[in-house]
Amino acid sequence: MSDHILAIDQGTTGTTVIIFDRETRIAGRAYAEFTQHYPQPGRVEHDAAEIWRVTLDTAARALKQAGLAPRDLRGIGITNQRETVLAWNRHTGEPAHRAIVWQDRRTAAFCDELRARDGVTALIRSRTGLVVDPYFSGTKLRWLLENVPGLRAGVEKGDILFGTIDTWLIWNLTGGAAHVTDPSNAARTQLFDIHAGRWDDDLLALMDVPARGLPVVRPSSAVLGHTAADGFLGVAGIPIAGVAGDQQAALFGQACHGPGLAKNTYGTGSFLLMHTGAETLRDPGPLLSTVAWRIGDEPLEYALEGAIFVTGAAVQWLRDGLGLIASAAQTEELARSIPDNEGVYFVPALTGLGAPHWDPYARGLIAGLTRGTGRAHLARAALEAMAYQTGDVVRAIEAQTGITLTELRADGGAVGNGFLMQFQADLLGVPVEVPQIAETTALGAAYLAGLATGIWQDREEIRATWKPARRFEPGMKPAERDRLYRQWARAVDHSRGWAAE
Ligand code: G3P
Repeated sequence: MSDHILAIDQGTTGTTVIIFDRETRIAGRAYAEFTQHYPQPGRVEHDAAEIWRVTLDTAARALKQAGLAPRDLRGIGITNQRETVLAWNRHTGEPAHRAIVWQDRRTAAFCDELRARDGVTALIRSRTGLVVDPYFSGTKLRWLLENVPGLRAGVEKGDILFGTIDTWLIWNLTGGAAHVTDPSNAARTQLFDIHAGRWDDDLLALMDVPARGLPVVRPSSAVLGHTAADGFLGVAGIPIAGVAGDQQAALFGQACHGPGLAKNTYGTGSFLLMHTGAETLRDPGPLLSTVAWRIGDEPLEYALEGAIFVTGAAVQWLRDGLGLIASAAQTEELARSIPDNEGVYFVPALTGLGAPHWDPYARGLIAGLTRGTGRAHLARAALEAMAYQTGDVVRAIEAQTGITLTELRADGGAVGNGFLMQFQADLLGVPVEVPQIAETTALGAAYLAGLATGIWQDREEIRATWKPARRFEPGMKPAERDRLYRQWARAVDHSRGWAAE
């Protein structure tokens, strides 16, 4: 019997498919970007039908590269951009509207209204572990129901289904047989009680979302359905056996399986998660409490999260928005071409600010420009901003938990950037470790699916496969670190509230 798992990592800007074997060797890998739609400032949408097409095509290419046929797979694991939400017609499979992406700020005014109501912030906080912010799916789903003609009536008739991207992919893979999600994704909708592990009637009433369109919540590691021939490259019967939001999958893939272990993923945004065991923190402060995963029938496990909205996306903006660089990798050489940042700071609040500031009205800002400023400064400032924002979150985690971070496990696309990793270690004053497989998001999904299909017996076996590849030791003097932070904090202050008037 084959021992390969196909992991689909459906991210914000592209889909990666990786095929792993039992030794976590990569047998095949493919990636494709898809279209980002910005219909108005502050709005970000995806065409879910395009996401599905791209995902299927990417899976086919990964299989071809591996020299495998779909029937050679033991199972499929799915991990996805979280919070992004859509509604579709269960009979035709057609999306009712473009998916509203997690970065989209269109519900900021409704969030202000919610915050102004007595007890609502506390209710949301205690049930979901989240703050009131347009980031999460609940207010976005409400927007769809209010603005797409006929949608509410369609849900009530049973014609319309809701879902985050995991749900959409599984529904398509199974030819419409499974309308499911897992607790790590459900936890990001703001409609889910993370302690009881179920959709919450009070929250549904608050957002005016009918329960009827919601998926069934299944474990993150379990057989959730099987491919249908018309759903997956003509091959029926492959188990879909693992699903988790991309940041929780990365936490699993980094073998952070126990309390106190933390990772930071450098993707479109950056998400620092620390496992907190079977409990959530009583007061997460400016951070989020979230479900890490649920393995089979075991109890829910939780994590503390610092969600940073824009890190890698700032580099992408330098490339695609400004045409300043040809590739993301070029930023390293540019950053190293100047001795320091020469006073230039870039606050990439392009979609507002997440943790620890939570300001949907903040906007991007470049400070400290002089006649001598060139593209090297902007490239360096974009990289440094990833590290400062991570530093802000680490400080918040330390303040909230009383735990001092002793090292940081890093993953995601930007860990290939040696300048960034060294600067991050310098700024935090602790070593940064990069694992052998930097694509821990896909690996996490593969592990979850492999656990449910018997490729790996338990987590201990999985932990034995995790190995560090590179370690960056801190070298910066504390006084220099403090000076940089102070300047950064000044720049952040200026970016705040910008779009409020
Ligand atoms: O919460 C949003 C997050 O899941 C997106 O991750 O990797 O697509 O930037 P990524």
